[in-house]
Amino acid sequence: MRAARLARMSSTPTPTPSLEGHLAESQAARLASLEEFLRIPSISGIHEYAGDVRAAAGWLADAMRSAGIENVSIEETGGHPVVYGDWLHADGGPTVLIYGHYDVQPVDPLEEWASPPFEPVIRDGRILGRGAADDKGQVHAHVMAAGAVLATRGSLPINVRYLFEGEEESASIHLHDWLVAHRDRVPADVAIISDSGFFDDNLPAITVGLRGLMYAQIDVTGSPGDLHSGSYGGAVQNPINALAQIITALKGPDGRIRIPGFYDAVVPLTDDERAEIAALPFDDEAYRQTIGVPALVGEAGYPTLERRATRPTLDVNGIWGGFQGEGTKTIIPARAHAKVSCRLVVDQDPDAIFAALRDFVADIAPPGVTVTVQDLGGGRASRTSHDHPVAQAAARALEATFGAAPLFIWEGGSIPVSASFESVLGVPVVLLGFTQPNENAHAPNEWLLLDNYEGAIRAIARTFDEIASIRDGGAD
Ligand code: BES
Ligand code: MN
Ligand code: MN
Repeated sequence: MRAARLARMSSTPTPTPSLEGHLAESQAARLASLEEFLRIPSISGIHEYAGDVRAAAGWLADAMRSAGIENVSIEETGGHPVVYGDWLHADGGPTVLIYGHYDVQPVDPLEEWASPPFEPVIRDGRILGRGAADDKGQVHAHVMAAGAVLATRGSLPINVRYLFEGEEESASIHLHDWLVAHRDRVPADVAIISDSGFFDDNLPAITVGLRGLMYAQIDVTGSPGDLHSGSYGGAVQNPINALAQIITALKGPDGRIRIPGFYDAVVPLTDDERAEIAALPFDDEAYRQTIGVPALVGEAGYPTLERRATRPTLDVNGIWGGFQGEGTKTIIPARAHAKVSCRLVVDQDPDAIFAALRDFVADIAPPGVTVTVQDLGGGRASRTSHDHPVAQAAARALEATFGAAPLFIWEGGSIPVSASFESVLGVPVVLLGFTQPNENAHAPNEWLLLDNYEGAIRAIARTFDEIASIRDGGAD
């Protein structure tokens, strides 16, 4: 199947006669360059890596300049920098803002990696390493696509601005404000975000919905230090028991979230939307087996594909406190903590959801402990249209490159800037991503299929041509 797709890829006409030749000839250098990028441990969420995040920004800026992208600059945000660049010589043509992120997730548990996360290896048609799929591989494909078109034609068919972020994996805490401050510098007609992927067994896809996120930490404090549970047990509140009580109250056994007002802003799907989702090739049992869980569970009354992408959720991401060592230690722990997050859907405001959680936790907190809830950030959900001419242009490019028309899918993950592009810049978004499902994003042994990476470069180049022909053909 993979071989068949490759054959189709090379037998279909390329955007220019020489692009394919150029890409074939430069493949080894391109992969070496991708490996170099993946070697920089740009983990945005851990302080000690801040210098590496900056090094990755510098590396990326150099790669963009080498590709022929102009006005490349590393821009301060108050956190990790964004890397900007543009190519704006398609006079009168449309301008596309391209987004990806060069930061990556932490790599623990390290012992579960088959090879070190920042020593990329190519094996079985895949490149393995942290960031291969999410999202350095896709950022790299964009830079290589621009470089290849510029090298073979001397120009791009449209105007392009690049905005590559360094803290997407840390909830994009500064990017929204950066966009507000710099909105006049990055005018565009449309944004293309390449930070999503294909569907099922690698079927080309364009994402039309992303969930939002609210992330919080709950801290419960009892006594200033641990207490002997024999001497004090029965006389004081136990912070871990109190935290467990709080967490249990947040969600019912039916999967419904019990925070008052939580569902107030949720707009139900239309019948057409539900039908479109139901028509996707998806099998619950196969999905269950791929994940390796004993059963699929969730909010009653909604099919799995809706639950995992179009319904809001509440999950505990981590919980800690008390004694965890070998043997027994009889204590009433002094403290307990939990990280709790909600995936949100369109019209749910992360700030309002945080306030609702905080107030509810304060209401239900048992006596004898101090409970605080911190806001760790988040972002709004985003919906995009598959009828937008640029979405249709990207769909034609995907079909020409990968040999199948893309499915339009909803994703449960979040890309905070997507909603900001719409609300701050007023530009529609097209979510054009190239990773294969199961690529182990955020997990040990992350990988990207090289066919998808190479296909991405060709599909991006074709998308540029397709967008240019919308203008020429007057289709828009
Ligand atoms: N690339 C993902 C978002 C994504 C996941 C898109 C799955 C399509 C499919 C992105 O890098 C990500 O992981 N986002 C975080 C956002 C959070 C830190 C605010 C997420 O969804 O957890
Ligand atoms: Mn990503
Ligand atoms: Mn991610």
